[in-house]
Amino acid sequence: MKYKTDIIYFSKKKLQIYLENDFVLELLSSRKKFKNTYYDDWILQDSAKRMIYSEIIKQLNPFKKKSLIDVGGGIHYFTNYFANNFSYTLIDPLYDFDEIKLKNFKKNQSNMNHIKSDWINYNGKKAKLMLANDLFPNIDQRIEQFIKFAKKYCETLFLIATFHNEPKSYLTQRTDANEFLWVSQFSGFLLTNILQRVGLNVSYYHKNKIRRLNENLFLNNRQVILLKINFLKQL
Ligand SMILES: C[S@@+](CC[C@H](N)C(=O)[O-])C[C@H]1O[C@@H](n2cnc3c(N)ncnc32)[C@H](O)[C@@H]1O
Repeated sequence: MKYKTDIIYFSKKKLQIYLENDFVLELLSSRKKFKNTYYDDWILQDSAKRMIYSEIIKQLNPFKKKSLIDVGGGIHYFTNYFANNFSYTLIDPLYDFDEIKLKNFKKNQSNMNHIKSDWINYNGKKAKLMLANDLFPNIDQRIEQFIKFAKKYCETLFLIATFHNEPKSYLTQRTDANEFLWVSQFSGFLLTNILQRVGLNVSYYHKNKIRRLNENLFLNNRQVILLKINFLKQL
């Protein structure tokens, strides 16, 4: 028995079509500039990121008014959109986000329940939907634990997974010890192995496609796919 999983890909062709009506750019440009956070600037500067947001909005819109937990959502234009259209909880430690900006944001947005913590500490209410965009497994490699966590707390998970099919590593430093570590980014190979191990329905066709993706949509050449995982539907 496997959980029903739909996979959405992003290609150069898809980006070209999206850019014919770049509505995310229009929405963000019409905003007062001082309201922008660095997340907004990032979305404004990156057309592929905007295409992904347009897909997220398309996917989430049929569920308006339902409960939504956003893991690692950041603070930007769509935070207001989510808070105004869903029963919205943001779980994000926002490590280096300006405290004053955050306070002001929350003053103007009372619909948001913000949990300033790592998702692993969450033990609040369950939600209909969960969103995790651009956090797993590149930034947070605990994707296996996360999918098990999501299964406990939501019915449908929208997981925008980022990985590299060319070897890529970073020299990092532990915050709790004086130790340096080389951390390798996830590949499509590792990702698909984990998706299978946690019981998602990923066919042979998709497994091979994910392992070979090489779309060059982003400057750092990361690959991005959107997984819609329905924990209530087993195949
Ligand atoms: C690359 S940003 C993505 C922001 C937004 N989801 C987007 O795609 O535009 C990653 C976000 O994950 C948050 N984050 C990092 N570690 C986290 C954790 N353990 N639990 C929850 N959020 C985390 C960061 O603070 C940051 O806001």
